Amino acid sequence: MYHLCPLEMKFICLTLLIISGITGSRSEQYKLEGSADPVFAVAGEDVILPCSVKPSISVVDMRVEWFRSDQKDLLVHLYDDHEDKNTEQIQTYRGRTKLNHQELQRGNASLKLSSVQIFDEGLYKCFIQSKSWNNDTTVNVKVEAVGRPPVITVDGFDHSGGLHLQCESEGWYPEPDLEWLDSEGVSLNSETTETHGNTEGFSVKRAITLHHSDKIHCRVKLRHHMLETLIISSSNMFISWRTPVILISVFVVLSMIAGILIAVFVHKNKVSRLRTYMVNVILDADTAHRRLIVYCDGKQVKLVKAHRKESDRNETQKERFNAYHGALGKDGFSSGCFYFEVQVKGQTEWDLGVTRESVNRKGSISLSPGDGYWAVGLKNGKYWAHESPRVSLSMSVISQRVGVFVDYEKGLITFYDVESMSLMYSFTNQSFDKKLYPFVSLGYLKNENFTPLIICDDY
Ligand SMILES: *[C@@H]1O[C@H](CO)[C@@H](O)[C@H](O)[C@H]1NC(C)=O
Ligand SMILES: *[C@@H]1O[C@H](CO)[C@@H](O)[C@H](O)[C@H]1NC(C)=O
Repeated sequence: MYHLCPLEMKFICLTLLIISGITGSRSEQYKLEGSADPVFAVAGEDVILPCSVKPSISVVDMRVEWFRSDQKDLLVHLYDDHEDKNTEQIQTYRGRTKLNHQELQRGNASLKLSSVQIFDEGLYKCFIQSKSWNNDTTVNVKVEAVGRPPVITVDGFDHSGGLHLQCESEGWYPEPDLEWLDSEGVSLNSETTETHGNTEGFSVKRAITLHHSDKIHCRVKLRHHMLETLIISSSNMFISWRTPVILISVFVVLSMIAGILIAVFVHKNKVSRLRTYMVNVILDADTAHRRLIVYCDGKQVKLVKAHRKESDRNETQKERFNAYHGALGKDGFSSGCFYFEVQVKGQTEWDLGVTRESVNRKGSISLSPGDGYWAVGLKNGKYWAHESPRVSLSMSVISQRVGVFVDYEKGLITFYDVESMSLMYSFTNQSFDKKLYPFVSLGYLKNENFTPLIICDDY
């Protein structure tokens, strides 16, 4: 007869416990539990793929492996030797899988998969292994992508007077159901659904013809998700055959507005590009014809009835225009690009552009490049480019403001109508060797329009 001391008892008990743990014949009582039903995941969101040992026992010391059993057992996540080991993981899962290490102590090896994609759909196997035991379970993941709200297009009337509507929605996965329903939710007879699928999911399209006014829905539905768009067609639509014309004109107006918006955008861009070359033009009163007054710090010039008296003895007579009502800018430019705008609004006779400093300003000048002028103008209601001979310009608008752009090195002088940013005229392949000066003129001899020309700095 012998006695066991308490310490020996403890030792034996511990040994028995380890033996009867999950080894030997009793290991069969442990098994993995996943999910009998498919696990639904929504594209873009996170999902937990369940996997737990039952009865609960820590799996911290075991190997936990998640892989795609439907894709050659490619590795999705591996935990081994107490850490995640994801060097062999499939690229598409990189950074998107997580095992909760706390939960592993409770036998929970569920995998969290973040920002679910359509291609995540499939079969996943959770496999857990210790030295003496292993088991697995399969989780079936179903992905759903909710598409964009359906868009209804009014296609107009068919020959029998029916209103043709089309409903379209894209970005769904898997293929959704599209239905036209009346206000009571009863499915309406409509054409068959057209479906297109690609890696972004499915897009569906279905048309219906309405013969009377109604409040109808287009509904796109997928297992747990549904999107609807309502359209109300009033009885007015069906009264008269003129309606299609009205409808069509509404669309035409809408698309015209879109066109104008785009044009305005393009216009703004072009103007602001040119305006980066804007120079400060100040008109030189000493060059101005005696019927002109230059005012507002050299920013405006206008005709007056009577010639000014020849009082300034200092002034150099040869510089002044004596037939053309012209004036030059104070500063000339001999390199790079420059741009300026002149408001011509309300004036019926004008010429403007650039000129060489040394040009003749006396008598009736041809204002052509041969004489050192590069200019456009308005006379007798017609726009002209002062080539020799002069060229008539066909302008669709009355120009309120003219922009002059010069690229000195390229020998380019371009005139724009600023409001519409349409090209008026370009002098190309010119060659300059001297400074070019801004030039404005209020016609010749008999002009009686006293509206000023204004150098514009207000943009
Ligand atoms: C297992 O852990 C996950 C978190 O990783 C948790 O969401 C889930 O509820 C846990 N399952 C059980 C059965 O405790
Ligand atoms: C996992 O456990 C279940 C239930 O005990 C068993 O039917 C199945 O064969 C086991 N799987 C493996 C791979 O051992």
